Amino acid sequence: MQNFTFHNPTEILFGKGMIAEIAGRVPADAPVLLVYGGGSIKRNGVYDQVRIALKHHRVIEFPGIEPNPLYETCLKAVAIVQAKQVHFILAVGGGSVIDAAKFIAAAAVFDGNNPWEILRTTGGCVKAALPVGTVLTLPATGTEANGNSVISRQATQEKLHFTSAHSFPVFSVLDPTTTFTLPKKYIRNGIVDAFAHTMEQYMTCPAGAPLQDRLAESILHTLVEVGPVTLAKRRHYDARASFMWSATLALNTLISCGVPQDWATHMIGHELTAFYGLDHAETLAIIMPGVWRYKLAAKQKKLEQYGRRVWGVRTAAAAIAKTESFFHNLGMPTRLGDYKINAVEAAEKVRARFIARGVAFGEHADIDGNAAAAIIRSRA
Ligand code: NZQ
Ligand code: ZN
Repeated sequence: MQNFTFHNPTEILFGKGMIAEIAGRVPADAPVLLVYGGGSIKRNGVYDQVRIALKHHRVIEFPGIEPNPLYETCLKAVAIVQAKQVHFILAVGGGSVIDAAKFIAAAAVFDGNNPWEILRTTGGCVKAALPVGTVLTLPATGTEANGNSVISRQATQEKLHFTSAHSFPVFSVLDPTTTFTLPKKYIRNGIVDAFAHTMEQYMTCPAGAPLQDRLAESILHTLVEVGPVTLAKRRHYDARASFMWSATLALNTLISCGVPQDWATHMIGHELTAFYGLDHAETLAIIMPGVWRYKLAAKQKKLEQYGRRVWGVRTAAAAIAKTESFFHNLGMPTRLGDYKINAVEAAEKVRARFIARGVAFGEHADIDGNAAAAIIRSRA
């Protein structure tokens, strides 16, 4: 097992009715910026619950955060935060709204001229951020309990992430009933995203960390068990609750302690969203089986362990096939052709990007531009 530090400062407020708990946790001595998306929270009653909880606070609203939140939109919020002396940001919505809030919170106090540096340096230059609280309405990303944020820039078709210890939310409300209004597509996306997060930290090479393996496998097992139930029965509280908690634990930095991590699937996937507008999870379902086949020799032992323990199959090939059919059964396509995207063209675009940035991903840092292109071509 590798050395690690583990510190997760986010307070989780889990369960039905817990939105009311934010009242005493949001400071009342300065204006609060309430950040949300395109209006789902107004249609499902979450907005009303938040406004009742904050009835004694001064609230400035910033709606209109788009899925795959835009840098350009976030900068408008930064200007408001600075002009109105906002001291706390409350994000209410899915991963996009929460990621936007984290970026706004870091950019508002950024000591530099160009906030894009936050993303260009993957957060290395973040020295402080305003506190952010969240009310999560879409289980998927884990952003409610980590220091990550992913931001897209319309002008350059880029999608980059940053990570900072300053960007963990101070609290996050996880009320499964807020998810009852999610369209099936986003439930499907959330299951696949949480599954992929677990895999990025598990499907590498043996690292003498049996507890981390078992923790990861229990998240995978739970998603396999409750995923189809929660997809079929929108108001099944217990299935929704287990799904929601699984998605949080998949990326709250616990299962990555002391083990190698991959993340090649995510990094290639972000480029596919930037170029073609695919949903985040759609890119993962396409790319992940390709990464595993490309790295079959290096990942064979873990693939076999996963196959045996999660699916009851013996070979790496069968484990990959089981994963693809799990995605298909959720209604998730796994090929670029399913979206009429030309794999050769996509491979060239991503290859050029990775080479220009000089980056390589994967637990052995060997998924460079050429490897990414080969993986993408294999997913035509
Ligand atoms: O904008 P509104 O009207 O709120 O509608 C949203 C949006 O259209 C809707 N929605 C959310 N909660 C709802 C609801 N509709 C009905 N009922 C509800 N309860 O769902 C749509 C999609 O929302 P979005 O926030 O975009 O989805 P998700 O949570 O999957 O977030 C995706 C973003 O997170 C990033 C992705 O790259 C992408 O930009 N990620 C962030 C990570 C992190 N910070 O750790 C890790 C992930 O790997 C991921 O990259
Ligand atoms: Zn993800």
